[in-house]
Amino acid sequence: NTKLIAWVAEMAALTQPKDIVWCDGSTEEYDRLCAQLVAAGSFKKLNPELRPNSYLAITDPSDVARVEDRTFICSDVKEDAGPTNNWCEPAEMRAKLQTGEGALFKGCMKGRTMYVIPFSMGPLGSNIAHIGVELSDSAYVAVNMKLMTRMGKGVIDVLGADGEFVPCMHTVGAPLQEGQKDTTTWPCNPTVKYIVHYPATREIWSYGSGYGGNALLGKKCFALRIASTMGRDQGWLAEHMLILGVTNPQGQKFHVAAAFPSACGKTNFSMLIPPEGYNGWKVTTVGDDIAWIKPGADGKLYAINPEAGYFGVAPGTNTLTNLNCMNSLNRDVIFTNVALTDDGDVWWESMTDTPPAHLIDWQGKDWTPQIAKETGAKAAHPNARFTVAATNNPALDPEWDNPAGVAIDAFLFGGRRSTTVPLVTEARDWTEGVYMAATMGSETTAAAFGAQGVVRRDPFAMLPFMGYNMSDYFQHWLDVGAKLQAAGHKVPPVYCVNWFRKGADGKFVWPGYGENMRVLEWMLGRIAGTAKGAENAFGISPNYEDINWSGLNFSQEQFQSVISMDKAAWAQELKLHEELFSQLAYHLPVEMPATKAKIEQRLGL
Ligand code: OXD
Ligand code: MN
Repeated sequence: NTKLIAWVAEMAALTQPKDIVWCDGSTEEYDRLCAQLVAAGSFKKLNPELRPNSYLAITDPSDVARVEDRTFICSDVKEDAGPTNNWCEPAEMRAKLQTGEGALFKGCMKGRTMYVIPFSMGPLGSNIAHIGVELSDSAYVAVNMKLMTRMGKGVIDVLGADGEFVPCMHTVGAPLQEGQKDTTTWPCNPTVKYIVHYPATREIWSYGSGYGGNALLGKKCFALRIASTMGRDQGWLAEHMLILGVTNPQGQKFHVAAAFPSACGKTNFSMLIPPEGYNGWKVTTVGDDIAWIKPGADGKLYAINPEAGYFGVAPGTNTLTNLNCMNSLNRDVIFTNVALTDDGDVWWESMTDTPPAHLIDWQGKDWTPQIAKETGAKAAHPNARFTVAATNNPALDPEWDNPAGVAIDAFLFGGRRSTTVPLVTEARDWTEGVYMAATMGSETTAAAFGAQGVVRRDPFAMLPFMGYNMSDYFQHWLDVGAKLQAAGHKVPPVYCVNWFRKGADGKFVWPGYGENMRVLEWMLGRIAGTAKGAENAFGISPNYEDINWSGLNFSQEQFQSVISMDKAAWAQELKLHEELFSQLAYHLPVEMPATKAKIEQRLGL
């Protein structure tokens, strides 16, 4: 691929690495790079008896989460990035990063190896998949990309002589001068970070961070921000959604795509184990974070998981919240920013009821339950992660790698809301569904830098991941539905869910996790036309008797407290929708205020 060869040469001239390694994606290469990271002190090999073939990486304390305030969409005109994104004129950003005097990428890889990392987002050769090539001076990135994507030589074969790829430039931004050695095991630039996207030319430039979504450029940067613009141009959807398969005792299988903001349980939901009383039901994982969805010739929406692994939040994961995930993590894992046990294994908050008596915390300090009690020190960083290949998941869906994707039967949208939003409502039609998704709010989590627990509007759970104007994106969703319906096809029903309502005692009322199966069953019943529901101001909700309660003690009163709609709270909520709409006034589809007016009317406001 002459374009690839020329680009690698051009980027090497710009960044001046000491050498270049073309990754082939082999196990031998993975092992070699991991051994190299161990020798450099960046990885600690975990006890092979307890956690075979697994490693722990500890980052610089400045580099522990996505940096939304340093993330830019450099579209040609500001309006195309929209009010929810940071924007900078492309020429100005290019001067800063590439071309100007002292541009950050000039010589940024000095003293380091440049890894050429070819990857496919989606099954190799799928008509929904796309190829990217990441150039990175981080071996940590190379090995994570091996687990997270289909990476290596096979991708070069699919690319062929003239295939297209998305160029993804990444540097930790810590060049080494002649004779200089790293003084840290996590080289990065603690103060200067840029995560930059040029939608017009489909390029990604990431500077200064080695962490997760900032550095594994196939994930948020390509599969969401750049892909969302590709989807807009080409008539498909790139979404922050898990995809799961659910099979009922009659053997019928459905596929559900569900959007939740970061750290709201997408991985847990995608690996759900049906609770007691659900014999014969099975949930299988197609994906846990991202879905690419394309209309098929038959009018159905087909989804693939563009990723091939999970980069999940460790704290809170345990055998009760996600047994399948815990079983996925028994071997072949890269852990980042979790705590180290004295016998060379890992631990994080809530992994076990009783914490170990002593740990080395994620900052390398001694940690005991007593120290935690006195100082509040966390053993693992709240955004500590595991990276593991999807093939480790015992609940992996047999269709997960099917190039054709799976047909989506329902869409779910859910935020983390301790009040106001009911456990589940079904949109009356596509437009109401788009409204529900567009106005979704959620309390912020540790997945991004910034204050936590603050409700912010997070339309479609895409706020940090939109590659273009949010209002145009709402319009795109409306258009995708309208086009299918105009051709005589049915669109999947849309549901709004909230597992997170709290009672007066401040505790979650809904037990969540496996019990979410009950809500899922109600939805499937609605699709089949067998489950009843009651109209409310905001869609259709189940009555107490419409949910299968076998095996769970959950009273009418408890149910009321998670399903009810409080008029005063909704009057307040709708004011927040109004605020969002005034922020997004440019190109806001008229259907949004029109749907809001209908809700107000139903509420008698
Ligand atoms: C993620 C995120 O890492 O959403 O998936 O932050
Ligand atoms: Mn995510």
